[in-house]
This record gives sequence, structure tokens and C-alpha cells, in this order.
Amino acid sequence: MKITVIGTGYLGATHAVAMAELGHDVLGMDVDASKIERLRRGEVPFYEPGLPELLQKQLATGRLHFTSSFEEVGSFGDIHFVCVGTPQKKGEYAADLTYVHAAFAALVAQLRPGSVVVGKSTVPAGTAVSLLPEIEAAGATLVWNPEFLREGFAVEDTLRPDRIVLGVNSAVGEQAIRDAYAGIIATGTPVVITDFATAELVKVAANSFLATKISFINAMAEVCEATGADVTKLTEALAHDARIGGRFLHAGLGFGGGCLPKDIRAFMARAGELGVDQALSFLREVDQINLRRRARMVDLTRELCGGTLAGMRVAILGAAFKPNTDDIRDSPALDVGLSVQRSGAAVRVYDPQAMDNARIDYPTLAYAPSAVEAARDADVVLHLTEWAEFREMDPAVLSEVVRERRIVDGRNALDRDLWRADGWTYRALGRT
Ligand code: UDX
Repeated sequence: MKITVIGTGYLGATHAVAMAELGHDVLGMDVDASKIERLRRGEVPFYEPGLPELLQKQLATGRLHFTSSFEEVGSFGDIHFVCVGTPQKKGEYAADLTYVHAAFAALVAQLRPGSVVVGKSTVPAGTAVSLLPEIEAAGATLVWNPEFLREGFAVEDTLRPDRIVLGVNSAVGEQAIRDAYAGIIATGTPVVITDFATAELVKVAANSFLATKISFINAMAEVCEATGADVTKLTEALAHDARIGGRFLHAGLGFGGGCLPKDIRAFMARAGELGVDQALSFLREVDQINLRRRARMVDLTRELCGGTLAGMRVAILGAAFKPNTDDIRDSPALDVGLSVQRSGAAVRVYDPQAMDNARIDYPTLAYAPSAVEAARDADVVLHLTEWAEFREMDPAVLSEVVRERRIVDGRNALDRDLWRADGWTYRALGRT
């Protein structure tokens, strides 16, 4: 099949490569010409394990091409996947649909009658129906197919998803996507067919549930701190109950990234417009609990430094919002870094992949080329993103360079006994 993918960010670039891997002829499109140039050369413009290798493999087959022209997209494709971003609006909770509207408008002007347009962007419920008239006027069919990929596992999640959700209003649209995803469906992946609004809601409901699970255990961490209990043991015990399960129940500095925080806020904003804001008022608490963890991290650091951060040297291990990505959108680590700096400390940050992005968006922080250099002469080390490099680190390596052996484990991911045995004062969120 001839497939186009509009928007080549984390979602679109991965989707384009994955569609070529399934055997389709694919044209990836982005309005950012420099991104397209890099992709054409076989370079992925962000860090995503496994994707560069697959991109190069698919470019070599001749099935995968990139363009900045909507005209080419319109004449090339039978199916067009729209994968542009929907960030949070500045100063509001609502999603900014500028890129979605721009992509649909430009695409509609070039559509061939009989083609299928598939929305994958995360949008407020009601968006697909609002786009339907212009798609149908062009003689095309609309399908809504939310994505659930996690950064760091984007290739795996695209080629082997837990489920495929299709919002459709015609058999033509459903069949087109079934054909496009035939290679995935053949492996037994469940397909859920529904209307547009439900398909849109599945995505935000899933992310709201995940955010709620994380904030639930972080709320328990607050109680553990007040009672002297240990949230990691609490989680271990809860996870043995199969009804609860242990995934997304890891207490720490909480969630960040380009999806969970903005999706729950956009969902609350949309619920307000729909007159059902009460139904989602708990999400405000989920958001608050999450942000309180960052404040607690700063307080704990201050406590450990004897009551003030002024004049302290603080090493920060981690800048990405989670390991295995270079994404720093709404990164808890960098947020904490800034707060610590504003409290008068000198902050030095190291991350295995996210340094370039962090330097651009957080120019006032200092950066070090390695964990050891970040920790040199530090009064306290903060472990804020649980990269394997940090989890597997021998404390003795840092002992040699720090001024004081003090560490706060913001992710409950280090071996507490190991660090204490090496003479470190170890503190963590949700346990002593
Ligand atoms: C998320 C969803 O998982 C994915 O399905 C959706 O398509 C996009 O949003 P992603 O943003 O890549 O994916 O990250 P995810 O792995 O979900 O982690 C989100 C955040 O939660 C990270 O900051 C992570 O550190 C944090 N987290 C996760 C916890 O604090 N505790 C946990 O137990 C799990």
C-alpha cells in the first residue's frame, strides 16, 4: 500500500519506519526541512533505541522516502497518517490544536478522492467529528487510530502494540486500516472497533489511569514519610495482588514527559467544556500530588544539607523525563534542578543522552560531561532519572570526588545498602 505519515516527531518518524518494515511504500512528511534532511540521510533527530538501525534498513530497501511537500503527499498516498503534536496551550490547560488544524487543512487541499485519512494525534473528544466535513467534502474517509507508544520502546510498541483502536464511521475506513496493519493483526493483536469519540477518549483515559496509578503510590509515599513506613515494600506487597499489579506503581519523583502531564490537563479542560468537570476533578489532585513530589525532593535535599541550600554544590544525575530517551519535556529532574538553583545552590547536571536538549531549554544550569564530573566537590548528589548507568554505578567511584557523601535517590532505584555500606548518607522519597 502507499502510505504517508505527516509529522515526523517521536510518533511519526517511528510510524513511518514501522510501516515500511511491514512492507508498505512510505512517504514521511514534515514542514521542518532540516528534520527531513536528517531522516533522508538515515539520522533520527532524537534518541530512540533501535530506530536508527531500522530507519537505515528501510531507506536501503527503497520503500521509505521523506518530503516537505504536501503536494507530493496528496499524489502519493492511499492512506495518510496524521501524527503531528498537540502540546499544552501556553497559560492554559487545553490542548493546542494548531498543528492538527494546519496539517488537515494542507492535506485536504491535496487529497485524492477515495483516499483515507487517519488521525493518530492525541486530541480532545469531538475533534474527529469536527474535521469530518472537510475530509468528506474532498471525497475521502476519516479514521481515528490513537497511538500508545512509550518513548524508549517506540519501535516495539508500534510493531507489537497491546491493541489497535479504530474510530470509524464506514467499512471502507476500517478495511483500509486492517489492510495497512495486516502484518500486526496477523500476530493476534486485538482490534477494537468503535466510534470517533470513544477512540479519542481511549487514549486520554489510558494516560489518566496511568497518571492516577503513579500519583496514588506517590500519595502513599507521603503517608510513608509521615509514619516511617517504606513505600517500596508497600508497593512490593500491593503488587502481589493481581487485581492491583505492580506496573506504574513505582514511587518516586513522579511523571513528566510530553504526554501524561499535558494529556490529563487537556482532558480536564475538555471535561469543563462538556459540563462534566466534576467527573475529572480527581485529576487535579493527581496533578498536584505529582508536582508536590518535586517540592518534597527539594525540601529533602535542603534538610540533608543542614537546613539551607545557599552556597551548596548539588550534582544532578539525569535530565531526561525518564531513562532511554533524550526528551526533557516537563522533566521532573530539570524542574528540581532549577528549584535547587533558585534556592541558592550551584547545580551541575549530567545525563547520558539529554544534555543537548537540556542546554537549550535550561541555559542557566551548568552541565558536566560525566556523572563523576557532575559530582566533583558536590555537597549532595541527586539521582533524578534512573538510567542504567546510574543504577549500576559503584558508589566508590563517586566517593572519591564528592565533598560530602550524601545522596537523595529520587527514583527509589539505587541499592540503598550498597551506598550506605560505602559511607553515604542515603535518603529517598517515601522511605527512610
Ligand atoms: C506515556 C504512555 O505510557 C504511552 O502509552 C502514551 O502513548 C504516551 O505517554 P511516555 O510519556 O513515553 O508514555 O512515558 P511512560 O513510560 O508512560 O512514563 C511516564 C512518566 O511516568 C515518566 O516520567 C516516568 O518516570 C513516570 N513513572 C512511570 C513513574 O514515576 N512511576 C512509574 O511506576 C511509571
